[in-house]
Amino acid sequence: MRKIFVIGIGAGNPDYVTVQAINALNEVDVFFIMDKGREKEDLVRLRKEICERYIKDKTYRTIETTDPPRDRATSSYEPAVRAWHDQRAGIYERLIREELGEDECGAFLVWGDPSLYDSTLRIIDQIIERGAVAFEYEVIPGISAIQALAARHRVALNQIGRPVHITTGRRIADGLPDEADDVVVMLDANCSFAAIDDPDVEIYWGAYIGTEDEIVAAGNLQDVMADIEKMRREAKRRKGWIMDTYLLRRSKEQ
Ligand SMILES: C[S@@+](CC[C@H](N)C(=O)[O-])C[C@H]1O[C@@H](n2cnc3c(N)ncnc32)[C@H](O)[C@@H]1O
Repeated sequence: MRKIFVIGIGAGNPDYVTVQAINALNEVDVFFIMDKGREKEDLVRLRKEICERYIKDKTYRTIETTDPPRDRATSSYEPAVRAWHDQRAGIYERLIREELGEDECGAFLVWGDPSLYDSTLRIIDQIIERGAVAFEYEVIPGISAIQALAARHRVALNQIGRPVHITTGRRIADGLPDEADDVVVMLDANCSFAAIDDPDVEIYWGAYIGTEDEIVAAGNLQDVMADIEKMRREAKRRKGWIMDTYLLRRSKEQ
């Protein structure tokens, strides 16, 4: 039977790749690599570097395909994302059916960890539901940008006995959730932290964490937000794309 691995490769540093991921990489016959917009060249290059570095037998095949663009013009975010997932499910299904032999093993290499803001697992579930191609699959966890951020700042994500809230820039644009003292923000294209005027919030910020372009900053949000906005703007201009993650903390610990 065909087998698919969904392998978390970590969020940028090839050293983040786990031993479990290396073992899985070495079982793969075909890697499916999806191009995703402007950052694609750098991210595709890292995936190829990982394969080169960790796979002993170089007889694997690589199939590159372009991800369909998401409709960003529509105001209804969730239906647009669902329609985009449908399209991607069709592409992944065709790749598994046409490019993978009956007893072969394929893999999708997922940035960071597959459980966080990544649609691969939802798409695999959709393909299984359609029933047009049969396969088994296994998920290998990876080091997410959140863990990499926390390690880089040498900070625990939660305060003693308190929860951690993980969300997107879009969702904190109107302020921090009332109940959350520690909020991790991903996918923020607009420096949404700049809208928060609470003087007691600290920020631990990082861009391109784990890569040679890494930039980090931390401090009282009101004191450092202008510097972070400037660094972010300049880095994005220089490189053409940016990925950043941050922890916002209302301090409860004395
Ligand atoms: C589509 S999500 C994927 C998250 C990924 N699955 C993970 O576990 O980290 C992309 C977002 O992850 C964050 N991200 C991923 N890699 C990062 C890195 N090396 N440095 C900072 N943020 C990163 C950014 O917030 C980016 O917008």
